[in-house]
Parts: sequence; C-alpha cells; structure tokens
Amino acid sequence: MKRIFSGVQPTGNLHLGNYLGAIKNWVSLQKDFECIFCIVDLHAITIKQDPKELESNTLEVTAAYLASGINPKKTIIFNQSSVYAHTELTWLLSCFTPIGWLNRMTQFKEKAGKKKDAAVLGLYSYPVLMASDILAYKATHVPVGEDQKQHLELARDIANTFNQTYSNNFFPLPEPQIFGEATRVMSLRNGEDKMSKSDESDYSRINITDTKDLINLKIQKAKTDPHSLPSKKEELENRPEAANLLGIYSALKNEKLDKVIKEMSGKDFLSFKKLLAELTISKIEPISKKMNDYLKNKDYLKKILKEGKEKADDISSKNLLEIKKIIGLLII
Ligand code: TRP
Repeated sequence: MKRIFSGVQPTGNLHLGNYLGAIKNWVSLQKDFECIFCIVDLHAITIKQDPKELESNTLEVTAAYLASGINPKKTIIFNQSSVYAHTELTWLLSCFTPIGWLNRMTQFKEKAGKKKDAAVLGLYSYPVLMASDILAYKATHVPVGEDQKQHLELARDIANTFNQTYSNNFFPLPEPQIFGEATRVMSLRNGEDKMSKSDESDYSRINITDTKDLINLKIQKAKTDPHSLPSKKEELENRPEAANLLGIYSALKNEKLDKVIKEMSGKDFLSFKKLLAELTISKIEPISKKMNDYLKNKDYLKKILKEGKEKADDISSKNLLEIKKIIGLLII
C-alpha cells in the first residue's frame, strides 16, 4: 500500500513553481493513493513571520489546495501545528539523529549564511521536523522537488536507524515520488535560479493570484536568448531560459517536452511567449478565481482544516504511542 505525505509552507504568495512542481501533481495522485497534504506552518516559523500574515497565509494555501482540485473528502488536509504528534516525534527522532548528518544539509548552510552561530536551532533541526511529518504517518512515498531530496534522504536514514536500533521494521523507508518533466520551475529573470517567493523581483515569478495583465507582462518580460526555439531537446543544454519556458508550457499543457519542442521548433520567442501567456492564463485564472471564492468563506476553510486535523490526529497519535512503547517510555 502507498501512503503519500507532502507539505507546502504558508509563507506568502503561491507561484507557478509551487503549482506545477507540487500541487498539480498531488491532484492526480489522489486517484490511486491515500494522500495527506499538510500546510507546514511549523517549518515556516524557522524564519521570522508576521503573526497576522502567517495565519492568513495558512488559509490561503488551504484555499489553493482546494481550488487546484485537492478533494478534502478523500484526502487529509491540515495545518501541521494543529497536530501535536509532529513536535513530539521531532524530539524523539532528534535522539536518533547524529549532528554530523544535520551539518551536511545544504539548505541550512544556504539559509544560515555566514552567521551560523546566530541561526536558530529550529532552522538547524528543520529536517528532523520534516522526517517526523513523514514518519508520524508511516508514509511510504513523498513527492518532493529537487531541493528537498537531501531532507528526504535524511528522513530515510533516521527511519533506518530507528529500525536498526530496535531490530524491527517499524518505519517504512519513505521514497521520493518522482514526476515527469518540468517539476522544477525556474525564475523568469534567470533560468538558473529556482522560481521562489523570496526572490526580490516579483517579475521572477508568476503568482497564482496575478491578474491576466500581469501574467502577460511578466511573460513578455521574461529573459530569453537571441536564438529561435530549438528543434531538439539536446539543443536546450546551454539555454536555461528557453528550457524553462518550454518546460512550463509542457507542464501546463500536459504534453511531453519533446512534443512541445516539435510544435514550437523555429518560432521566435515573441510568438512563443504569446502562446505561453495565453496558456498560462487559461490554466491559472480559474484556479485563482476559485481561490478567491474560498477565501471569502474562512469558516469553511477552517472547518476543512479541523476535519483534516482530526483524521491526522487519529493516525499519528496511534503511531506515536507505539513509538514511545518501543523506546521504553512508560505510558500511563
Ligand atoms: N520542507 C518542505 C519544503 O520547504 C516542506 C515540507 C515539510 C515537506 N514537511 C514535509 C515536504 C514533508 C514533504 C514531506 O518544500
């Protein structure tokens, strides 16, 4: 049996990278698997958050999940901080995590920068919390982007250490759930950087809530190169911007990259960008409309999260109890 767990941080604008790289793929997973999709607010607070914004961003991600087609009748949707097992398991698993493993994490190194000593403990132990998210549900598969693979690898190592320590197979080793093309959407200003909500320039990303005009403008202004579009995949090698725009087109259109390249071969960027803008708007606009409708009904969103929390609690508290028993913690 497959159980899928994944999460998105409620930190500001959701963009095309979040949608194409994560949420859109999750929607199709629901057909065949038991899915748990979390809004990881505890991860968000590893960097400073405005309390009001954190709360509204949590509802915004909930609305985006629903608007994109995540079905709360089938799938568990909840915010991480509402289920206590995540934090409690983080402590337990931190006792199975050598510091040396955490020292290797590239995301921590990037985020902490030169001021390592001033970085908070939560930023450092972030991957242990992520392992707990996954292992609290004994999830078997985790859809993640390239940037989270190292963290998932760590979750496997922690699970394996626990299993070995107690000579059992309590935790399944979670595997990455890989998707086809264009899971990695890059910045519109620089094809070598990931599309990100923390990029200073709003022109680097397309937000799910952007208006038609803004989407048009951002795509028009997107960085390109002086050549026309290639006729083969291999010709994209040193053309990160062309690769990115074609990748976005292929993901939005649900068509293989090869096919899109054939279709667009020889076109100039100006005409390709027109098609890309049209396609983007036709896919994103209905989602942003629905999202805004959901956001008008915050009580409904909270009700969905509450139902999700109860289901998540049910599964994770049982697992947590077993873990505590295995460790030898007295249950009273
Ligand atoms: N760290 C992930 C990110 O920033 C989000 C996340 C938290 C996650 N817990 C998770 C993803 C568990 C997959 C599984 O993208």
